[in-house]
Amino acid sequence: MNVTQTTQTSGQSKLQKDDILRIFHVSYFAMSRLASFPWTFLEEELHSSKSSEFILDILKQTCLHSLSRKFPPSVRYRRLFLSEFIKRQEATNCEPLDELYDALAEVVGAKETTECYKSYLLPCGDAVSLLENVAVISEGTTGLVTWEAALYLAEWALDHQQVFTDRTVLELGSGVGLTGITICRSSRPKKFVFSDCHSTVLQKLRDNLELNGLTRQRSPAISVEELDWRTVTDEHIKHLDADVVIAAGQGQVLKWMWCMTQIS
Ligand SMILES: C[S@@+](CC[C@H](N)C(=O)[O-])C[C@H]1O[C@@H](n2cnc3c(N)ncnc32)[C@H](O)[C@@H]1O
Repeated sequence: MNVTQTTQTSGQSKLQKDDILRIFHVSYFAMSRLASFPWTFLEEELHSSKSSEFILDILKQTCLHSLSRKFPPSVRYRRLFLSEFIKRQEATNCEPLDELYDALAEVVGAKETTECYKSYLLPCGDAVSLLENVAVISEGTTGLVTWEAALYLAEWALDHQQVFTDRTVLELGSGVGLTGITICRSSRPKKFVFSDCHSTVLQKLRDNLELNGLTRQRSPAISVEELDWRTVTDEHIKHLDADVVIAAGQGQVLKWMWCMTQIS
């Protein structure tokens, strides 16, 4: 998946313009930390060109992209991103660009929301867009946002698609659904069982499956189960008949973790 890969790419010595554009695009829509954007490379590019053309190119890949109208990142994130962008642009003495200030003006007056969209780009170019909460913990659960662990597990799944193809996959603690939706889109599982124990999380998960068209297609078969891994019965597990079980999450000790178990 592109999000963690782009963070690693930005550590390399020289990035081409296209790489910078791609990293801004991927990072902006996943609402990645602003510190992880390749600002230094952007500044170098603006210093050398002294033209605002590249700023417009970046805006077209972020705030002015059609995805930003359809599935906008949070108002706060867009404001912080544009403020940082303007600060960097001004530091380079590059000619100012009206579109940059217009974009900021649009979000400065906008009302903050408790929900936002994050879009994660698959290698095929498709995006998985998810409705998530802005707060990391809300309504007594950590399940209303995508965690880094889900990104890593989704990336692993993309590199090991054969593990899931034609199998029944059970995901524990699915949260808002990134890993499962990525697997359903990429690996042709026979059936994918999303599960969680929290009712609000389960509703948001269903909404995100709908948003990504998974409820309208016949294959793979999907279901959403209320399942608490502390109290689930042998009978319930047997009934699900899973070949593969996966889970991803964060802990106080481990920054992130995921696991995959093959049963058959
Ligand atoms: C840190 S979030 C991770 C969500 C998602 N897997 C991700 O990585 O983005 C933990 C998820 O596990 C769920 N969860 C916590 N305890 C659970 C339990 N006992 N049984 C099932 N799910 C549980 C929460 O509701 C939440 O959705």
